[in-house]
Amino acid sequence: MSSDAAPKAARSASLPSSNPFERLAALIADLAPGMDPVVMTIGEPRHAVPGFVADVLAGSIGDFSRYPNIRGTDAFRESVGRWLDTRYCLGGTLDVARGILPLNGSREGLTFAALGARDYLAKTGARPAVLMPNPFYQTYAAAAHVAGAELVALDARAETGFLPDLDALSPELLDRTVAFYYASPANPQGVAADLATWQRVITLARRHRFLVVADECYSEIYRDAPPAGVLEAAHAMGEGFANVVSINSLSKRSNLAGLRVGLAAGDPDFLEAWARFRGLAAPQVSMPLQAVAAAAFADEAHVAENRRLYNAKYDVAQRLLAPLFGPVVPQAGFFLWLDVARWGGGIEVTRRLWAEAGVKVLPGAYLAMDGASGNPGADYIRIALVDDETTIERALSRVVAVLGD
Ligand SMILES: Cc1ncc(COP(=O)(O)O)c(C=O)c1O
Repeated sequence: MSSDAAPKAARSASLPSSNPFERLAALIADLAPGMDPVVMTIGEPRHAVPGFVADVLAGSIGDFSRYPNIRGTDAFRESVGRWLDTRYCLGGTLDVARGILPLNGSREGLTFAALGARDYLAKTGARPAVLMPNPFYQTYAAAAHVAGAELVALDARAETGFLPDLDALSPELLDRTVAFYYASPANPQGVAADLATWQRVITLARRHRFLVVADECYSEIYRDAPPAGVLEAAHAMGEGFANVVSINSLSKRSNLAGLRVGLAAGDPDFLEAWARFRGLAAPQVSMPLQAVAAAAFADEAHVAENRRLYNAKYDVAQRLLAPLFGPVVPQAGFFLWLDVARWGGGIEVTRRLWAEAGVKVLPGAYLAMDGASGNPGADYIRIALVDDETTIERALSRVVAVLGD
């Protein structure tokens, strides 16, 4: 570890050699499922596609013959602008012409944002760094790789509220940081940063000249109150959206993971520069899909229904799991992040649940990398509550039967 390393930071110059799902397949390859399988690993929504999608698509089918503009259609940007303005009380301050871009889902944008930030910031001298939480969405590692930057993983454990410890970051590290991938609501833990925490991150970004890449794709899948967002925090600070970009998509909000439409919104100067680069290099978003997205961002009824379905499943989870785990319901997202240390940790429990109950979960260790004090995901399993309520009830009852023995 080099001298400016934060005490709890893990470092890796390269990509993970395989993704968590491949590692899981290898982990349980020697085991047969003990009962009919229930797969609870992938964060792929299984609630219904909103009813209006087919009509909007049919109505704009002719546009499939046209090359889309990299900046998106006016209708897309205006719909996204209205949605963000209402959701985060921005008072019309977002620049709808320059401060919003369509993405092919947030993953694509997350992959290339660090590269865009590196070029835009043009920091000289020390090797650029990309910060991310640990556990983390694996694409952040790809982003650091693409940007030729050092990947710095910041442990996000229970002791720091499952968010990175900002006090542990040295000025030297922050000075050479080009992008800080900040996930809120976080996958897998489901915690969300409050306004003050976002503002601390933004203050650091402005002081040390880096870009906050806010991964907010679970922003609408919350329990009681909508979590604060990075744009809201920047707006409340009163100095525009410099050094801030929010990445979001319709994948979780609208059960449209296959549509592959997302958005980047915030710093208009960064987004302008990134759009020029993206005009050479990035995949455009086809216009009929942007039309669907514009309609989806204009409708909240299907999103409220989505939340209702997830919340009902969390009620089931809390009722069944409370005797073993206490409170299990996170602030947002659609995962359970269960501490299974007393049963031998995530790897051991994943094998047992598959072999004894046919329940396929993901070991937390596969969503994190080794840090200064071990792997922060090692004690956990992640369970996705994407199936219907009956299936969730059946699967979690089996989990209780296995672990409750
Ligand atoms: C934390 C997080 N960010 C980003 C994504 C990517 O979502 P999409 O590319 O579908 O918008 C996911 C998908 O699972 C995720 O969990």
